[in-house]
Amino acid sequence: MNISFILNGNKVKVEVSPEKPLLRVLREDLDVMSVKEGCGRGECGTCTVLLDEVPVTSCMVAAGQVRGREITTLEGLESSGAISDLQQAFKEAGAVQCGFCTPGFIISAYALLKENPDPSRDEIRVAVSGNICRCTGYTKIIDAIELAAKYNKGLNNEI
Ligand code: FES
Ligand code: FES
Repeated sequence: MNISFILNGNKVKVEVSPEKPLLRVLREDLDVMSVKEGCGRGECGTCTVLLDEVPVTSCMVAAGQVRGREITTLEGLESSGAISDLQQAFKEAGAVQCGFCTPGFIISAYALLKENPDPSRDEIRVAVSGNICRCTGYTKIIDAIELAAKYNKGLNNEI
């Protein structure tokens, strides 16, 4: 079946089964490799993308569900410069080790900061509670998101 949707601002069309998970459509049919497959059952958040601006686990979304809708991945946010503060903050806070979980965390953090530019640490924890990291112990990731929020407020000279 032909399915069209907007991917990172561009209209795309793929010939796939409507049941095929969006995660696999992105990686296998559209070469979007920032979207990682961890658990494949909605538990780890490594496959997180924005669906109409809302973070979703793309392994749990069927291709047929995104017809005519808007998908944003790390590639789209990166090319628009929308996550440069987050990328810098993750680097500065040492929040990336193997990096496998990082795209999913950045998508969740971006959605949080867009909605709530000055989140508490608890609000950050809740926003990334669907993302699992096996390396960092989470503290540095929370630090990084808090730091990115400070950049947004122009307070980075206090760090
Ligand atoms: S691969 Fe989608 S939530 Fe784990
Ligand atoms: S940095 Fe390795 S899983 Fe998070």
